[in-house]
Amino acid sequence: MMNFYVMTLFPEMIRQGMRTSILGRAAENGILSVEALDIRDYTENKHKKVDDYPYGGGAGMLMQAPPVFACHQAVLEKTGAADGKTVRTIYLTPQGKPFRQKMAAELAKEENLIFLCGHYEGIDERVLEEIVTDYVSIGDYVLTGGELPAMVMMDAIARLVPGVLHNGLSADFETFHNDLLEYPQYSRPEEWHGKRVPDVLLSGDHRKVEEWRLEQSVRRTGKNRPDLYEKYQRKQQYIRFLLKKGKALYIDIIENLRRGKGEIVEASEAGILVKDEAAKVCMIAVFDESRADEVAGWVLPEKDEGKKAGWQLVVHQECLLAPLKEIIPMESCLPVYQAVYTQRTAVPLPKNVEICVLGTEYLEEVMAHYGMTDDREYMEERLQSGNLFGAFAEGGLAGFAGIHAEGSLGMLEVYEKYRRQGIGRALEAFLINRHLSMGYTPYGNVVEGNGGSLELQGKLGLCVSKQLLYWVTLKA
Ligand code: ADE
Repeated sequence: MMNFYVMTLFPEMIRQGMRTSILGRAAENGILSVEALDIRDYTENKHKKVDDYPYGGGAGMLMQAPPVFACHQAVLEKTGAADGKTVRTIYLTPQGKPFRQKMAAELAKEENLIFLCGHYEGIDERVLEEIVTDYVSIGDYVLTGGELPAMVMMDAIARLVPGVLHNGLSADFETFHNDLLEYPQYSRPEEWHGKRVPDVLLSGDHRKVEEWRLEQSVRRTGKNRPDLYEKYQRKQQYIRFLLKKGKALYIDIIENLRRGKGEIVEASEAGILVKDEAAKVCMIAVFDESRADEVAGWVLPEKDEGKKAGWQLVVHQECLLAPLKEIIPMESCLPVYQAVYTQRTAVPLPKNVEICVLGTEYLEEVMAHYGMTDDREYMEERLQSGNLFGAFAEGGLAGFAGIHAEGSLGMLEVYEKYRRQGIGRALEAFLINRHLSMGYTPYGNVVEGNGGSLELQGKLGLCVSKQLLYWVTLKA
């Protein structure tokens, strides 16, 4: 459930705009709510005045601090969080950070969002300092107020909230996925105004269709968005380079970039640093070991160490560990091998094991059985996002496995009683096939010394890296 609160001088504009269309239907279905609050209702002024002249002179009027603050307090009370900045409060302003798909995805995870719409020449800085957590602009142009930008943001955020769009996949696979614009699409009739639907789309050859679509996406992006195109090409160039350097060792970085999850923060002939903001994971590798100190220094260039608490770092060479330790406080360091499934064909699935997606009702059970983490919040998020799968036997759970936030297969656990019966193998095969069907290259990590898991990877046909990688958890 997502609750939007809009602080505005034109509440009717929001109510009218949000009543109709897909968002209106989502509100009716109780998936989201939109409440517009009239800032004018919170002024003490008997003429309901909310604006005044700016000190120091200048054109136009400013919205005053007291009614805006009082309105915000009222919203906080509605959300049940009256103690300051506990609810993200977004001020729409051309001076803000540009609104992008990534920000929409991040905000879609919140339960409550407050939008503050400015008018006149702006709002008294002092109240902004006290209540605003995010300054956001929807583009490099100036509008008369923040209402349209707030509605633009709510629309983009809402369609990412589960249940708002009915086809679960579409929100993920459209424009801006992986830096490319969407390919052209066609529907019936097969010929219209003398134009035929491209033959390849009628061919029924799924792989050819995908290739054609990618080619079209790349072409369009090159033509209309040179900025995105350049970013895409740079990623492709490093993906090719890493594939040559070692597929098993670098498949995590390759797949993270390919799937459009991470961004290259820094890369050169010395090394690469990729950041997956949503997963809170950074991946780092050095190509020239004599430059390990320099590459380690790419982590946390800005002084935002506080923000990186709880992040994980996947270190691809041992020689990076010592210089990294100098820079960042480490909580733990886990040596792992990386295993990659290099074939395109599905793994045969044993028929006698029933596997299905697990919901959050399994959180307690999963936490009780999974030895690798006590991060409850993380496992809850994995369950919520449909990324944990259970194998069932005798009417109950016999084991589970899933997909980590940064894209690797893992979290494999088979209950004592059900071991050595092929359940682990079935779970991993299931996940491999799932990723193959999504066009991904399946991969995972094996903790050093876990002979059973190494053996399983071999049986399933995965290639294991010769070198170790290090999963480093940063101190919270
Ligand atoms: N208010 C006025 N213009 C705006 C813009 N471009 N983005 C966000 N808020 C605004």
